[in-house]
Amino acid sequence: MLIQPQTKYQSFQPIDLSDRTWPAKSISRPPIWLSTDLRDGNQALIEPMNPAQKLQMFNLLVQIGFKEIEVGFPSASQAEFDFVRYLIEHCLIPDDVVIQVLVPAREDLIHRTFAALKGVPQAIVHVYNATAPAFRRIVFGRDQDQTIDLATTAAQLVYDLAAEHPETRWQFQYSPEVFTSTELDFARNICNAVLDIWRPTPQHQAIINLPASVEVATPNVFADQVEWMHRHLIPRDSVILCVHTHNDRGCGIAAAELAQMAGAERVEGCLFGNGERTGNVDLVTLAMNLYTQGIHPGLDFSQIDEVAQVAQDCTQLPIHPRHPYAGELVFTAFSGSHQDAIKKGFAVQKSDELWQVPYLPMDPADVGRTYESVVRVNSQSGKGGIAFLLERDYGLVLPRPLQIEFGQVVQKTMDTVGQELSSADLWQLFTREYLQGSPFKYQSHQMSETRSGWKIVAELEREQQPLKIQGEGNGPIDAFLNALDQDLQVCHYEERALEQGSDAVAIATIQLKSAQEQKGSYGVGIHPNIVTASLLAILSACNRKHP
Ligand code: KIV
Ligand code: ZN
Repeated sequence: MLIQPQTKYQSFQPIDLSDRTWPAKSISRPPIWLSTDLRDGNQALIEPMNPAQKLQMFNLLVQIGFKEIEVGFPSASQAEFDFVRYLIEHCLIPDDVVIQVLVPAREDLIHRTFAALKGVPQAIVHVYNATAPAFRRIVFGRDQDQTIDLATTAAQLVYDLAAEHPETRWQFQYSPEVFTSTELDFARNICNAVLDIWRPTPQHQAIINLPASVEVATPNVFADQVEWMHRHLIPRDSVILCVHTHNDRGCGIAAAELAQMAGAERVEGCLFGNGERTGNVDLVTLAMNLYTQGIHPGLDFSQIDEVAQVAQDCTQLPIHPRHPYAGELVFTAFSGSHQDAIKKGFAVQKSDELWQVPYLPMDPADVGRTYESVVRVNSQSGKGGIAFLLERDYGLVLPRPLQIEFGQVVQKTMDTVGQELSSADLWQLFTREYLQGSPFKYQSHQMSETRSGWKIVAELEREQQPLKIQGEGNGPIDAFLNALDQDLQVCHYEERALEQGSDAVAIATIQLKSAQEQKGSYGVGIHPNIVTASLLAILSACNRKHP
């Protein structure tokens, strides 16, 4: 049983910002994206990426369109250092991409970081130190002034070392780590103290990154914190305000979105939400959330399965089947009413109109998904899904009452097999039920016109014995029913082409009813000759009546 939590945990105090403006704002353009897959993402892996995987991830990020990529923590290990050197020495960084590296506010590590960056055309040096009270007290034993001193000393060293290498275009970034639990006025003081040293300008901005290193409150609280900082950073026009949300409470996406409404211009995160503990914010979801609001994110996820595959190969972490936009099942409907609505939506959706297919927040084709997975049939599905699959994959358009009838056939099978049926399974079931019945089998027929209508002579098989029948009527169907002498009336008849083109195949569906029956049963015939298709449909209905 869970303990009474009030003795162990406390709620986060709201921010005093009664004139907050972010709730009335909306996001109208994408942020500057920074991928930290190779740093925060990599450091959180059970097995960190090897050099080949790192390169594969780097190339993927470039291909997606990231222009800022945090490629590592070069002072943390030789492997991290070597990867940065490898990118630089092999000229693997495109001209329009800037790499970023992380370094703690420590003199020796800053020197090592600059050594790793030697010769790079442009780079962002990202310095951080933890600023939250618990960290100051428990981890570092430093008070507020000493913590500011640590940050400013590091900022000065970064500034000086950069000045020694004017061949590189430098940009500086500072993160008050654990910002979410840091007193706001202290966060402001330390960020402004760092900015004071870097003296950014509107032409050469510094980045202030506000990390939700641990997510501790609802996303509106984070938005308040960000808006508060947005109002207090000096000089604001010389700062790119960035957020870096983690997902401890499952709100990393919401926090990053509300933070943009609150003034953040840049977002750091990882593909599919990889990262420490519950992960960094998922940049794929953030980008696609923009896309489905009609805003191009500037990142290309048009082949999302390929991106997911590379990410999984590099991280060795699976992507959940229900992961937004990328999971295997996220465009799939199993429930009958959803399938019905989707089928109707697809039928009226025009390619040049706003997307309005019910239950599908976006067109799966936009992320390279086929419509194959949109509808899948299990025991909770209904006629809509079954009809959708048969139409999509076999060109079979079934009249509604036949959909209902076949739906019951499928349901019975489903109750016995108990597992999902593919469209091939459905087609097989349909074939068995309607096209391969017995005792009657069609062999051939001849039609001739009489003075009063039509005469048919048909060769059939009944229980594997030849059977020749003949009859007359006002048309082929009437003549054939008379020849069969089964006392059946036609309740519904429909014929249409199964395929387009010159060698089109006809599908005839017929509902036949005897005098004693309330409702008849359906038969289906498929044949290139439309009359033969109708005769087959009649035999199919007879077979289903007397199997
Ligand atoms: O989550 C975090 O605080 C970080 C910083 C180092 C930016 O990853
Ligand atoms: Zn982080």
